[in-house]
Amino acid sequence: MSLTPEHRDALVAALSWQIELGVDEAIGDAPIDRYAEHAKARAEAEAARKALPQVGGRRDAPKAKTGAPQPDAAQQDANDRAAACQTLDELRDAVAGWEGSSLRRGARNCVFSDGLPGSRVMIVGEAPGREEDIQGKPFVGRSGQLLDRMMAAIGLDRRAQNPAEAVYITNILPWRPMENRTPSASEVAAFLPFIERHVALAKPEFLLLMGGVSAKSLLGVETGILRLRGNWRRWGPDGLPAMPTLHPAYLLRSPAAKRQVWRDLLSLKAAMEGETVEFT
Ligand code: URA
Repeated sequence: MSLTPEHRDALVAALSWQIELGVDEAIGDAPIDRYAEHAKARAEAEAARKALPQVGGRRDAPKAKTGAPQPDAAQQDANDRAAACQTLDELRDAVAGWEGSSLRRGARNCVFSDGLPGSRVMIVGEAPGREEDIQGKPFVGRSGQLLDRMMAAIGLDRRAQNPAEAVYITNILPWRPMENRTPSASEVAAFLPFIERHVALAKPEFLLLMGGVSAKSLLGVETGILRLRGNWRRWGPDGLPAMPTLHPAYLLRSPAAKRQVWRDLLSLKAAMEGETVEFT
């Protein structure tokens, strides 16, 4: 089989990701199809689940949003401006021009998105860091490079032109918080109408929520990311499947957690291939 440069890049990325996961030895001559194993395990778990008597209410009842702050004037303004946008370009201009948050004063560039709008998968991170602030694009620093390798390991690439293989990437906040500090609840709340409109206009089939700030704010829950991750949730009026997972910056600090993220990515890949998504 002839190897195209794209295939070669994908294979090298998959190999680097495996090395990062701790693989240091080839143990067999024949490759093992982990995707097939995962699908089989899911099918067996599903069969076992169906065999159990159902107790309680609907398993997939949408979670109510909790603790949302009451809208003040700036918040109402953000709601109105976001709702008025009919295209991603309009939203980009609205976000960049919105004066309702002081975060923009400490940042160089508005970081709106990267990748292919209309991709099946939309990734939502937390906020730009230093590199992202300089380049005006999300996830281009060290976390971003790891994110790219993670995506390549499941056959996705932000540079791809085909929505089935591409990803679309954004953050909860479009401006870098100074000193890379964790954004406050009110800063997150201020931009929530914009990110919600962003998802609605980008129309992905799946959301990948990277890190606690992204997962908690979009899902409207207080649960920590270590408990949220790995479990499909519904997002928005159409119940878009959303997978919370750990942030690549966390993985850079805690490499042992990569195996958990690998499971989340396999679940995303399986869902993209048509496996029924089981919601929490
Ligand atoms: N971390 C994020 O959450 N987003 C970025 O764009 C970069 C780092």
